[in-house]
Amino acid sequence: MSVNSQNLSILNVLVLHGPNLNLLGKREPEFYGSVTLNDINELLSETAIKLSSQVTCFQSNHEGTLVDKIHEALGQYQGILINAGAYTHTSVAIRDALSAVEIPTVEVHLSNIYKREVFRHHSYIAAIAIGQISGFGALSYQLGLEALVKHIRAK
Ligand code: DQA
Repeated sequence: MSVNSQNLSILNVLVLHGPNLNLLGKREPEFYGSVTLNDINELLSETAIKLSSQVTCFQSNHEGTLVDKIHEALGQYQGILINAGAYTHTSVAIRDALSAVEIPTVEVHLSNIYKREVFRHHSYIAAIAIGQISGFGALSYQLGLEALVKHIRAK
């Protein structure tokens, strides 16, 4: 682990984006606004520096690929920030992978999933996450990263 000028060790955080989030900017702007995935990743990289941490961002439309990434995170990352997209509401496999690696995880959503269709109200990830931030657009990710890093450092 490298050390910065404030003598805080740099925390490595894996940011996972699930299906259809590659279409942000074009996709249902009434829910997701005009922000692109690239904008979010840049925002997170800048935010990470202020938190003496660094992020690696990865998007996939495939459940198994996300599961593989979570497995590979063992020993590489101290935290996971995840917007699993629709897999939030369907994927026991992603939840089990996060439970298996025991890496502190924060769940985020751009839209407020509780204001939308009933099938979006249940998250398989929420119960095994430190917490969930939903409804603030790109700010959900920024707040989630800050909460995750502060939680890990407080331990
Ligand atoms: C989402 C909410 C999910 O219900 C949806 O399937 C998404 C995006 C969000 O960020 O608001 O793909 O995770």
